[in-house]
Amino acid sequence: MVYRKLGKTGLSVSVIGYGAFKIGRNQKIKYPETYALPGVNQVKTFLKTVIDLGINYIDTAPAYGISEEQIGKCLEENRNDLILSTKVGEQFIHGRSVYDFSQKAVEKSIHNSLKKLKIDCIDIVYVHSDGNDKQIIQNSAVVEVLQNFKSKGMIRFVGMSCKTDEGIVLAMPWSDVLMLEYNLNRKQNKKEIQQAFENGIGVVVKKGLGSGWLAPETAIRFVLSHQGVSTLLIATSKVEHLKENIEFACDLINQ
Ligand SMILES: NC(=O)c1ccc[n+]([C@@H]2O[C@H](COP(=O)([O-])OP(=O)(O)OC[C@H]3O[C@@H](n4cnc5c(N)ncnc54)[C@H](OP(=O)(O)O)[C@@H]3O)[C@@H](O)[C@H]2O)c1
Repeated sequence: MVYRKLGKTGLSVSVIGYGAFKIGRNQKIKYPETYALPGVNQVKTFLKTVIDLGINYIDTAPAYGISEEQIGKCLEENRNDLILSTKVGEQFIHGRSVYDFSQKAVEKSIHNSLKKLKIDCIDIVYVHSDGNDKQIIQNSAVVEVLQNFKSKGMIRFVGMSCKTDEGIVLAMPWSDVLMLEYNLNRKQNKKEIQQAFENGIGVVVKKGLGSGWLAPETAIRFVLSHQGVSTLLIATSKVEHLKENIEFACDLINQ
């Protein structure tokens, strides 16, 4: 595995991270194929392989169904040095996304995540945007609440999973880490990734494989060839894909 610095956080992340969507939710998905949710024992074995292959960063969210619970149950003995991120602002209730960026909802969400993940400090918490990045940053309590939890030592680093170009610019001044979409079909934030890199902000890429619609090797090469990308999260459910993706990434970087 190859590792890169995550901005100025002091953390080194594997260039391939694990996006834990598929272990928790199989409704309203964007992937090409449907799938059954894995049971706890299956998840335990899978996450052990993830870690054994050198992946040290796992991303989840309250909106990913039972993903946080699965991680909490499966990683108890295995979490040394593992970097975990979750999000606030979105929940998935009765088959649909519900957003709430109020102080009360965000505080409750962080406490719930700590409990489900069975930890007393979360490495990274992102704002889970509904698409109105600017409105959320400027008119809700969410950034202040995240910073309060950070100052209390219950979160180590904060950031936003942005959906707009404007949101990326507005999130940069207060974020340690930014999550954004960057892939062969959506290349527009190349400049912002460079800017984040120069400002010591870690960049975590989501949907690098276009949620499974892009050819993995070319897609991984494209994303990781940007020096500002710290890690590419991939949501696979198959060990052979996990291994293949790591090989693509490491071949590129070792060239
Ligand atoms: N708003 C947000 O904050 C947000 C939004 C989207 C994503 N994310 C984060 O980013 C992560 C990844 O994005 P994503 O969930 O959209 O999916 P993605 O990683 O872009 O694509 C996942 C899909 O690619 C397939 N795949 C992976 N490796 C493959 C390989 N070697 N060969 C063939 N198929 C392969 C997977 O199928 P198999 O299971 O068959 O491998 C899966 O269907 C998420 O899990 C989440 O952590 C965040």
